[in-house]
Amino acid sequence: MSYQDVYNGWKNDPEAFWMQAADAIDWDTPPSKALFDKGDHMYEWFSDAKVNTCWNAVDRHVEAGRGEQTAIIHDSPITHSKREISYVELRNRVASLAGALRAKGVEKGDRVIIYMPMIPEALEAMLACARLGAIHSVVFGGFAANELAVRIDDAKPKAIIAASCGLEPGRVVHYKPLLDGAVDLATHKPDFCVIFQREQEVAQLVEGRDFNWHGFQYGVEPAECVPVEGNHPAYILYTSGTTGQPKGVVRHTAGHLVALNWTMKNVFNVDPGDVFWAASDVGWVVGHSYITYAPLIHGNTTIVFEGKPVGTPDAGTFWRVISEHNVKTFFTAPTAFRAVKREDPKGDLVKQYDLSCLDQVFLAGERADPDTIMWAQDQLKKPIIDHWWQTELGYPAICNPVGIELLPVKLGSPSLPMPGYDMKVLDEGGNELPAGELGAIVSKLPLPPGTLPTLWNAEDRFKKSYLTNFPGYYETGDAGMIDEDGYIYIMARTDDVINVAGHRLSTGGMEEVLAGHPDVAECAVIGVADQLKGQMPVGFLCLNAGADRNNSDVVKEVVKLVREKIGPVAAFKLAVVVDRLPKTRSGKILRGTMVSIADGTEWKMPATIDDPVILDEITEALQSLGYAKA
Ligand code: COA
Ligand code: AMP
Repeated sequence: MSYQDVYNGWKNDPEAFWMQAADAIDWDTPPSKALFDKGDHMYEWFSDAKVNTCWNAVDRHVEAGRGEQTAIIHDSPITHSKREISYVELRNRVASLAGALRAKGVEKGDRVIIYMPMIPEALEAMLACARLGAIHSVVFGGFAANELAVRIDDAKPKAIIAASCGLEPGRVVHYKPLLDGAVDLATHKPDFCVIFQREQEVAQLVEGRDFNWHGFQYGVEPAECVPVEGNHPAYILYTSGTTGQPKGVVRHTAGHLVALNWTMKNVFNVDPGDVFWAASDVGWVVGHSYITYAPLIHGNTTIVFEGKPVGTPDAGTFWRVISEHNVKTFFTAPTAFRAVKREDPKGDLVKQYDLSCLDQVFLAGERADPDTIMWAQDQLKKPIIDHWWQTELGYPAICNPVGIELLPVKLGSPSLPMPGYDMKVLDEGGNELPAGELGAIVSKLPLPPGTLPTLWNAEDRFKKSYLTNFPGYYETGDAGMIDEDGYIYIMARTDDVINVAGHRLSTGGMEEVLAGHPDVAECAVIGVADQLKGQMPVGFLCLNAGADRNNSDVVKEVVKLVREKIGPVAAFKLAVVVDRLPKTRSGKILRGTMVSIADGTEWKMPATIDDPVILDEITEALQSLGYAKA
């Protein structure tokens, strides 16, 4: 079947399409139908089914006689270690951990926060929650205590599972003080914490609250898989919105299973038993979907990689891992390839490895620039596939579905919509724009299974953020265009979200931190173009009248403050003090114009600008940071 046949098959009968995809899942009670229309543009999928995610990701493969297959390969160039865990070992470890969580009172529906680095135990913690029907919320290790505290207060977890430390090149990330700080800061207190002690750092446990990962499993009954309703939340994953309060994206169990499983063959072109590697982190949606769940649900071998594209130990690490572990499909972010290209532009390290196992490479998380794609294609001589999706959606929405058919590649476009997505480009008034014109990218409701049905404890925010501006559509928050062949081009965000090294960050959240500095009267954060990371945040600060401060001291203090409050992942290193910010007459800061000046792209003087002279000062300030070059 061609892509067009598959897409049309979905469009003509979505219900039949998804019910057929659902056949690949092991149900305790099969769904009577796929779509449940709740009214008011709210939808759910397979709600009347009963199913368990852990059973589908682990136990059923053991029952089917594949228990000895490797489920997880841990490859950590940072600790110089490698380890393999078979499906039967994984089943036993997860059942034991789930049993211990249950013995301490964790039940279906309870929330559990997971704060762990790239070790197999992070996946085991996720699967143990899934086994019990507990709802996990994984928090990325690069976030600071304050971000963790915000998530604790929103999710109200019964337990937190953490490791003693994470390892960044040349730096131990002390998780335990961050965890303790977060619990102190949060209003909600978990009943207990479970700490996985890594040999690189043994953390001090809080008597009565903290339990050792191994010790607390001693002598407990392993837990069986608890069937849950199809619309039971599998997890909450917080992602950046326009404010410092992150959005808790909810994922329902059944749709998640059906859709992820469908993508493994049709999009990523792997069969059960093949090795699949997503070089991301379990704290991001890519890690949830394509390190943990999809490969395991589909019976693949997944790789948990604790390292960086460069420096662990060199820019050949990706190729070593692919060659050594027989990776068939590799998934990474364009930034990672840009980092590798910078160190090994001629691909000398690529040539040192036998990459005959590799069939295709997928890039996502940010715009894939044509230079990077062409460089990768030249070096690897394999299809390099750009594809687009978001935390909200959970799996590729715009893609070149290699498993169905390798479509002609158009550089700069992630290609065509996947089944489930009827995408349009609309103007501000909600009118469909003709081919080639730039507007808001939306998808007709309902969204397919496995996408967000709502935000955790925030249905109004869900409706306001995604469903209100364009009634009947899901608003992606991205702007772009569709060409005459239906290929979609993603150009920019329509909100204050920026993308730094494939990490989604809120400039609004950073502004809230800067505004908290006692000498800052007003501020703005914009994302400027960066050759390596795609974008970098830059802060503009107006100081309080009479603040008798050295500007560079204030800059140092706000840089430290963002690192402390949001975390190192914000990569906030550049700020500058200015007298005033450019605004419209109604007082709106002209961030878009500032970005254009910084990037040296064409811009027009906004008709509504209050005082154009301010832009000269902004230009000078940006030039002092090395931007806004004439
Ligand atoms: N725990 C703690 N700190 C972390 C972290 C984690 N899991 N991940 C990143 N950080 C820290 C880094 O150590 C760095 O700290 P520093 O300011 O002390 O140097 C900071 O956060 C910024 O990290 P990053 O943006 O990743 O920059 P980098 O300079 O360390 O590395 C790249 C540059 C390109 C190698 C790196 O960004 C990369 O691998 N990018 C690919 C990203 C990716 O795969 N994203 C997946 C999304 S799909
Ligand atoms: P996240 O939710 O962290 O996955 O970030 C999603 C956002 O990243 C999208 O809304 C886009 O702005 C951007 N993004 C992801 N993939 C791509 C891509 N292939 N091309 C362009 N932008 C992308």
